[in-house]
Amino acid sequence: MALDLAIVGGTGLYQFPGLDNVTRREIDTPYGATSAPVVCGEIGGRAVAFLARHGEGHSVPPHRVNYRANVWALHSLGARRVIGVNAVGGIRDDMGPRVVAIPDQVIDYTHGRFTSFCDADGAEVRHIDFSEPYTATLRRELLAAAATAGVAVVDGGCYGATQGPRLETRAEIARLRRDGCDLVGMTGMPEAALARELDLDYACIALIANWAAGCGDEAEISLEEIFANLREATAAVPKIIAALLAR
Ligand code: HPA
Repeated sequence: MALDLAIVGGTGLYQFPGLDNVTRREIDTPYGATSAPVVCGEIGGRAVAFLARHGEGHSVPPHRVNYRANVWALHSLGARRVIGVNAVGGIRDDMGPRVVAIPDQVIDYTHGRFTSFCDADGAEVRHIDFSEPYTATLRRELLAAAATAGVAVVDGGCYGATQGPRLETRAEIARLRRDGCDLVGMTGMPEAALARELDLDYACIALIANWAAGCGDEAEISLEEIFANLREATAAVPKIIAALLAR
């Protein structure tokens, strides 16, 4: 069966609820091992693949995720559209904890990651157009699916991708805000760019776990709060995906 959709789960999403007839696939890639086996199954009779970006036990930190292997594996299984689910911190006033956003722009502050399939020796050099880092049609479908599912989402926002695994300083977040970032996360890049290099449709569901440093009232960011907020926000994801697949 052709794959209808691939989902890359982030922090707090290690298994996808409602996936039936599951098989687990270990995919051998030219870039090494994926973060976890790819879990293939069905949602409402549509073929879906799920991959836990940080591994199923959250053993892989953001800067050590093998983004190339993950994206390559999903493509090799026949995926042509991919949804990245990412936990983020909120910077803009309407991006508080538990809000769900579908960002439309990216600024990449990461370093030392393999950011391109061109990094391999002998690979063809490609300069992809990345003016719109997320596929406009897939973003629109996600927004429509969220509306059908009755899930409130913020349409748009600029995702600032930081290196991690530590959270940012207040000064770093102040800089990101000046740069125009509305959200901050550690895993949005290079995943989106790698997907574009393989001509995959790609869009992001950003789950806001906390106010980014200096944006809320609290002096410190509590990890317990991050996970509690994420548990709540993550509940929106299967609803949006089911509505997307039913379209
Ligand atoms: N910064 C970066 N990544 C994150 C954050 C944050 O505040 N919260 C969840 N992921």
